Amino acid sequence: MSNLLIFYSRSGNTKKVAQVISENLTCDVEEIKDTKKRLGFIGYLRSAKDALMKKLTILEKITKNPEQYDLIIIGTPIWVSNMSAPIRTYITENMDKFKNIACFCTQGGKGGEKSFQKMGKLCAKEPVATLVIKAKEVKKESFTEKVLEFVEMIVKV
Ligand SMILES: Cc1cc2nc3c(=O)[nH]c(=O)nc-3n(C[C@H](O)[C@H](O)[C@H](O)COP(=O)(O)O)c2cc1C
Repeated sequence: MSNLLIFYSRSGNTKKVAQVISENLTCDVEEIKDTKKRLGFIGYLRSAKDALMKKLTILEKITKNPEQYDLIIIGTPIWVSNMSAPIRTYITENMDKFKNIACFCTQGGKGGEKSFQKMGKLCAKEPVATLVIKAKEVKKESFTEKVLEFVEMIVKV
């Protein structure tokens, strides 16, 4: 089975989880980059507003064609109990090319499970595996066990 891991990360947590997944699963990796400025306080407010309003953004050019993979593993930070705007944009622009999806997220406290339901609905596909990691687990680097369980679910598909 061919796997493509795509993720967006504003401040690095989701990127760290993506790295550990890619060390434990054979997959191609694509980091989604946004053209909108999202760092700093203004960037934070803009990101919260975009997520709340389900706004789309303009992404930098992607290099991997999702059509060529059996499974797309989608990683996002949680923004106001939603997927991030760059991930909403990626899904909206590419969902017709997805065969199967798995989802992971990082979050401060809550919203991940609810967001996976929304991501599944948007893709019109039930995720084959999901993974929620809290920001404090990323900080403590105590999330490898959960990643291995997630990878195990994926390789069983
Ligand atoms: C605009 C914004 C809204 C957020 N909303 C939530 C939220 O609703 N629930 C939550 O648990 N964490 C929330 N967070 C915290 C992030 O999900 C968390 O810090 C995540 O690990 C950031 O990932 P990143 O470093 O890959 O960008 C929010 C962060 C931002 C920037």
